[in-house]
Amino acid sequence: MSKVTVIGAGNVGATCANVLAFNEVADEVVMLDVKEGVSEGKAMDMMQTAQLLGFDTTVTGCTSDYAKTAGSDVIIITSGIPRKPGMTREELIGVNAGIVKNVAQSALKYSPDAILVVISNPMDTMTYLALKSLGLPKNRIIGMGGALDSSRFKYYLSQALGCNANEVEGMVIGGHGDTTMIPLARLANYKGIPVSELLSAEELDKVVKATMVGGATLTGLLGTSAWYAPGAAGALVAESIIHNQKKMIPCSVALEGEYGESDICIGVPVILGRNGIEKIVELELNAAEKELFAKSAAAVRATNAVLKEINAL
Ligand code: LAC
Repeated sequence: MSKVTVIGAGNVGATCANVLAFNEVADEVVMLDVKEGVSEGKAMDMMQTAQLLGFDTTVTGCTSDYAKTAGSDVIIITSGIPRKPGMTREELIGVNAGIVKNVAQSALKYSPDAILVVISNPMDTMTYLALKSLGLPKNRIIGMGGALDSSRFKYYLSQALGCNANEVEGMVIGGHGDTTMIPLARLANYKGIPVSELLSAEELDKVVKATMVGGATLTGLLGTSAWYAPGAAGALVAESIIHNQKKMIPCSVALEGEYGESDICIGVPVILGRNGIEKIVELELNAAEKELFAKSAAAVRATNAVLKEINAL
């Protein structure tokens, strides 16, 4: 039996639970929310699609009843407020730090062996907060940002190339922020052909820039932050863990010297399997990429410093 808990049944959490159920990632998916009836209602609605879509996963909802989440293999945290148009992810730290710490501690009481997947923003800092405050080994704390940003990168690449998005490879490393993420254009390819051979430098630069503000673009259109891709990215991370797929997915993880950084959670490619982070993959970055990574780490560190200022750490 496998079980995934999704904390927060808002747009992102509910989408994540829906993808987990539709793809039968786990036998059981539990959604938990503080709003009375919301996760129960969304779970019932999803279960009424089981016959339409043909999945066998059981989805249930509960209101702040952590006992119902007991024995989860993976806990996905989506709780907190999303950004409004014009806001950065970093501005959410004051409200979300308290919520993320609280829900993670409550959930871990009932699932002490679970692997934690953090979606709440500012994602790298919330992952760092989890690392520093929960006492879990670092292989069990994963921020999902890079999975989302990489899917946006592949989307924009496929738009520019006029090709199927599933035939494009691309990775985004660094922080999950409008100015901190690093789409690795040099390594992106279409069926093994470097995209630099297919797109001009200007076209590639446009793709990189669009990727970096991909979340902000959607926030502007929707009036709140996006949910389909963020939810699906969380489910992708959980799937590689639950099914021990050993997929390489860029995620925010604790570094201890890798990429020249330590005491930070930031996006790098990792192998995800039953133990959570099975391995951190160290890419050979060129000088320009190394510089971008160091800058990104400095920015993430500056946001992490706020945790101390607001007594969250
Ligand atoms: C985004 C939010 C979820 O990038 O961070 O859409």
